[in-house]
Amino acid sequence: MGSRELFFLVLLSFLTCLVLVASETNNLDVTSLKALMDGWKNVPPNWVGTDPCGSHWIGIGCTGASITSITLASLSLSGTLSGDIASLSGLTKLDLSYNKGLTGSLPQSIGSLKNLTILCLIGCSFSGPIPDTIGSLPQLSTLSLNRNSFTGRIPSSIGNLKSLYWLDLAENQLTGPLPVSDGTTSGLDQLVNAKHFHLDKNQFTGEIPPQLFAPNMKLIHVLLEFNQLTGSIPSTIGLLQHLEVLRLDGNILTGDVPSNISSLTSVGQLDLSNNQLTGSIPDLGRMTILNTLDLSNNSFQASAFPSWYSNLPSLTTLHMQSTQLEGEVPPNLFTLPQLQTVILRNNQLNGTLNLTSNPSSQLKLVDLRDNKIDSFIERPGVNHVILARNPVCIGEEKLYCRDVQLDHPSYTSESNNCISSTCKVDQTSSPNCLCAYPYTGNLYFRAPTFSDLGNSTIYKILEHSMNVSFTELGLPVDSISLSNPIRNSDKYLELRLEIFPSSAENFNCTGISSIGFVMSNQTFKPPHMFGPYFFIPFTYDHFPGGSNKSVNVAVIIGVVVGGSILVLLAIFIGFYALRQRKRAVKADKKNNPFSSWGSSKDKSGGDIPQLKGARAFSFGEVKKYTNNFSKANDIGSGGYGIVYKGTLPNGHLLAIKRAQKGSMQGAVEFKSEIELLSRVHHKNVVGLVGFCFDQGEQMLVYEYIPNGTLKESLLGKSGIMLDWSRRLRIALGAARGLHYLHELANPPIIHRDIKSNNILLDERLNAKVADFGLSKAMGDSEQTHISTQVKGTMGYMDPEYYMTQHLTDKSDVYSFGVLLLEIVTAKQPIDKGKYIVREVRQRMDKTKVLYDIHELIDPTLLGLTLNGLEKFVEIAMRCVADTAAERPTMGEVVKEIEGVAQMAGMNPNAESSTTSENYEGSSQAFSHPYSDESLSVYK
Ligand SMILES: *[C@@H]1O[C@H](CO)[C@@H](O)[C@H](O)[C@H]1NC(C)=O
Ligand SMILES: *[C@@H]1O[C@H](CO)[C@@H](O)[C@H](O)[C@H]1NC(C)=O
Repeated sequence: MGSRELFFLVLLSFLTCLVLVASETNNLDVTSLKALMDGWKNVPPNWVGTDPCGSHWIGIGCTGASITSITLASLSLSGTLSGDIASLSGLTKLDLSYNKGLTGSLPQSIGSLKNLTILCLIGCSFSGPIPDTIGSLPQLSTLSLNRNSFTGRIPSSIGNLKSLYWLDLAENQLTGPLPVSDGTTSGLDQLVNAKHFHLDKNQFTGEIPPQLFAPNMKLIHVLLEFNQLTGSIPSTIGLLQHLEVLRLDGNILTGDVPSNISSLTSVGQLDLSNNQLTGSIPDLGRMTILNTLDLSNNSFQASAFPSWYSNLPSLTTLHMQSTQLEGEVPPNLFTLPQLQTVILRNNQLNGTLNLTSNPSSQLKLVDLRDNKIDSFIERPGVNHVILARNPVCIGEEKLYCRDVQLDHPSYTSESNNCISSTCKVDQTSSPNCLCAYPYTGNLYFRAPTFSDLGNSTIYKILEHSMNVSFTELGLPVDSISLSNPIRNSDKYLELRLEIFPSSAENFNCTGISSIGFVMSNQTFKPPHMFGPYFFIPFTYDHFPGGSNKSVNVAVIIGVVVGGSILVLLAIFIGFYALRQRKRAVKADKKNNPFSSWGSSKDKSGGDIPQLKGARAFSFGEVKKYTNNFSKANDIGSGGYGIVYKGTLPNGHLLAIKRAQKGSMQGAVEFKSEIELLSRVHHKNVVGLVGFCFDQGEQMLVYEYIPNGTLKESLLGKSGIMLDWSRRLRIALGAARGLHYLHELANPPIIHRDIKSNNILLDERLNAKVADFGLSKAMGDSEQTHISTQVKGTMGYMDPEYYMTQHLTDKSDVYSFGVLLLEIVTAKQPIDKGKYIVREVRQRMDKTKVLYDIHELIDPTLLGLTLNGLEKFVEIAMRCVADTAAERPTMGEVVKEIEGVAQMAGMNPNAESSTTSENYEGSSQAFSHPYSDESLSVYK
């Protein structure tokens, strides 16, 4: 050891002592926290040194020299929670929620934390039993252990938590009976200050103990759905005078519903469905603020439709499927002013369905499938009535006789009067048009008061309240965005939430864990109409600089202080240098995706291509996003190979087209194809996100379009109902996309494979032209490719091109004409040996109504007003004229379909461009980011 090193060693020790001496944190707390750290990976980057309070360690809160809070939500922590936590005696808040990497059991010693008020461990991977010692936390007010893998019984000691306000043990694997006190042991009934029992989605068995409910309890939410509870509903339930939400669905409850359930006059949401309840349907006439009622799938006695509904003016949602109802549906039911959804499937309801002359203006769905209704008095304005398999539908093809699923309404938060710029592929444009990495996850509402998910007003109310709360709480949030509302199989309303950072592209650890805590601890309270909720975020992996490095630094410094400094310093420096070099190489590869191309074996690759926003994915990345090209992600195939669905870590979906060995192109062709595709940007054309040219693979990565192909919808396979105006809008969108490719893209692109399989529908049913360029790049093999490919493509091919091999954009126009005929007829171009073009041509008589082609028109359209259909067919027939010269250009086709749309009473520009000049500007797509038209509504 040289003298200089010696000096350095001494200096370092001295400095270390100095730091220790100057530490603002008490020693015991430092030792305990260090011990906890030993069990964790990915601790925040500034957890360095020995003074958590003085150096403001992320997620650590102190009062004086004592550590009083640990809030580390969503930081990708992994490891276990060691018993050392017990020594942090001043701890009041512990939130480790949303760290899926946290495993193992909860230490018994947690019971020593006498000051703990909040314990949130939502969405981790903890397992084993909940320790008995949980009952020795006299100050605990919030206990949220939902979404883990806890097993065993609820310890009866839980009854000692006299301060408990919030109890959420949902979505674990807890078993056994619900504990109640019996003189010797404690139980849930002693939690007289609790307002929330969220015990859903476990495996609890036994009866619901009558003692569980008593008049001195303050419960407002009792959620017991999806367990295995047996016996009857105790009549003590009626004692809960504050109760607002009661879910007992999905159990094995039997017997009569106690009559005093009706004394729950504060309940808004009541769900008793999917049990084995018997006796008569309970009289709920006193529950006057009830808004959501589900009694479905029980074994009630047959009875007439109850009359008490008329006392429930707030009712929005009535589900009484398979409840043995008989007789007529009282017409006045539909006059309840808030009514949105009525599901009465599979009963014995008969006579006339009369929606009265003034039904609720909010009524969106009346589903009476499998009843005995023999006549129906339709009312204008009531949008969705389903009477399939009722006598009134025998031999009828009326729209209301179709047996279809209601399609999901769509919603995506609007931008705030700004124009989105094109973001990097893994970034997202915020409502304020900033490109950033949002903190993303799903919100789950376990009992909303409404059921019309197509009403955008409700989401705006939620957006507003979130934006306001986050601002008031001083969180670093720019804005939030909501999207993709669905009613999931648990009957929860599920919404995608994206939270955007203010003044940076990404959140730092403090930002994420603070927002995580606001959501885990329910500091954010949504408007009342949304009811109880929880939030489950995805892993956030866009921390500035990444958080892994710091772990090593922290560990190394810790060891350095204790031991042989020089060796470790050398290792550290070497390690660091290596890491930096690796990182530099990695970064270089990322910025310059084709940099290795020129130097690879294939010298023909040439220069780096001009990429506009397309990103290079490594094989490893694509493999990860598609879950190793799993069968479940296989969403289609063709001559070129297979298309996989992929999911980026931020939840964005991709469609990845993987060329199979035989259909690979040369490197030059692949590159020029990517260059071509990456220049194409239009609302009605599927956008290229990137590519993968790695490990001998060629893949094109596209945006994922959720509603599948037009073909599936026309064949009734997607559940999306295509009325005339939707078909017109899709035809117009496809025409605009193709027009763009022909006349506005540079260089122009001839698609060569226009067909209903290649028109995709997004969540707002905008048509998107897909799969262009690929066949072109296939070069000489193209002929054999097309003629041997999937049947059906044949029917779209321009006969002139087929005979002369001479390709022009008019060949696409021909195929487009066939597509238009398909839209009208919902028939494949060649169906049972008949060619649709010839069929229409032969049958068409322009002097007659609908040109006398009724027999060819899709039966589901007949009976509707089909304004402009004749004109539409005329356009189609001009597109399929024998010679290219007689066919219109796509520009002309667009104008003519716009004319038809106007005839059908639509505004063809309602949510797109007004003139062809600004087709290309993607900006207009953002000024009307969604249509107000609810997709569950058809005219
Ligand atoms: C409807 O069903 C009820 C009860 O089953 C029966 O009494 C009544 O006659 C039926 N009405 C009609 C119109 O079939
Ligand atoms: C949408 O929801 C709002 C808020 O609940 C309500 O006031 C409005 O009437 C609803 N609109 C429709 C069309 O149902």
